[in-house]
Amino acid sequence: MTARDVLKQTEGVSPLSRLAQRAPAFQNSPWEKVDRLVSGGPADTIYFGNGTPSREVIPFARLQEASQRAWAEVMETPGALDYGNAAGLNELRDLIAARIKRNLGIRAERQNIIISNGSQQAIDYLCRLMLDPGDTIIVEGPTYLGALQIFDTYQVNYIVAPLDDCGLDVDHLRATLASSPVVPKLLYTIPTFQNPSGLTMPLERRQTLIELMREYGVLILEDDPYGELWIDEPPPPALRALDPGVAYLGTFSKTIAPGIRSGWVVAPDGFAEMLSIEKEIVDIHNERLMMRIVRNTVDGFLDEHLIGARALYRARRDAMLSGLARFLPSGTSWSLPGGGFFVWVTLPDGISAVELLPFAAKRGVAFLAGEWFYPGYVSADAASNLRLNFSTLPEEKIEEGLRRLGDAITAFVEQGDSSS
Ligand SMILES: Cc1ncc(COP(=O)(O)O)c(C=O)c1O
Repeated sequence: MTARDVLKQTEGVSPLSRLAQRAPAFQNSPWEKVDRLVSGGPADTIYFGNGTPSREVIPFARLQEASQRAWAEVMETPGALDYGNAAGLNELRDLIAARIKRNLGIRAERQNIIISNGSQQAIDYLCRLMLDPGDTIIVEGPTYLGALQIFDTYQVNYIVAPLDDCGLDVDHLRATLASSPVVPKLLYTIPTFQNPSGLTMPLERRQTLIELMREYGVLILEDDPYGELWIDEPPPPALRALDPGVAYLGTFSKTIAPGIRSGWVVAPDGFAEMLSIEKEIVDIHNERLMMRIVRNTVDGFLDEHLIGARALYRARRDAMLSGLARFLPSGTSWSLPGGGFFVWVTLPDGISAVELLPFAAKRGVAFLAGEWFYPGYVSADAASNLRLNFSTLPEEKIEEGLRRLGDAITAFVEQGDSSS
């Protein structure tokens, strides 16, 4: 059969009906639902769905000044805006290597650090390198839904590892693996101030997890956007600080601003060159001017700046915990995050968070439903859970939002009682 014969058969067939097998994964975002609900609610809706730093702690003036310095450097440096090194600006890679050693106990050289367009892109790079359709990976249940969106495009099967109060339940995972017919390739974990639960894995458990994954030859992908945003005390060492075989992802999205799209991978031993080549294939390298701006912003500034950010987040976290106790019905429980941006709430009496959401949104408060943080964006285990963000709202808004949420739950339950 020639191409012409094929053409005859497909005459009039739309390219939309000939999409790749991975394409359905691009049509299934929970964000759309939330946006629709929130934009249809009252103008003063209090939105607990964010995952961003507070506007007050984004260092706009420092970024502007760093940008002016970056332009001056560019004007003086021949070739500064030509194509460059795929792994990124060396001065920024060196700065990151020094910071993560000092602040997170991670020993890495410049050669192991590849600058990425946020950790979102870095997750994709690791997946692209590791995963074939039909492979199995382990994710925490619940986990970051943006990562699930990526994994879905690689057409993987999931083992969902449940959390207990100390993060990923390693004993449970051990039992699951012992009876699993397949050996997974990769574990995606957020061990510190987890999104969405806010939980942190203690040191001993980190060590046990690493040993278990070594036993099965599973690559650990450690995603750590919140590790430096501790409130009460610094978290235990990163998994990568305990094992150079871990792929570690960092980002300036939560400590500076998400719009600068600046993150990095600390490549596991043996992976750095392949990841650099991948970066070159996909987008050649990060934007070279922005890498200078980030270097100039971070250097001699960020550590000090984070002290103020922590104080602001502490006040908001505390307002959220006391508001939950005051306004939510008895039987509600929640996590106690020591940092990061989120509290994970469990509603009483099997109340469905997905059903509550439109009801609450009409009353001026919105959140993300817990089951969206599971593969397929559904989970019977998390039907009564919701994620609340405390980083972006001032204390009085947090209080008012929780008052509205408490009222919405009461009205929702009463409505259910009267219709049954
Ligand atoms: C756990 C986790 N990983 C990755 C990201 C994406 O970060 P970035 O802006 O660096 O791509 C987020 C953002 O919310 C996150 O919470």
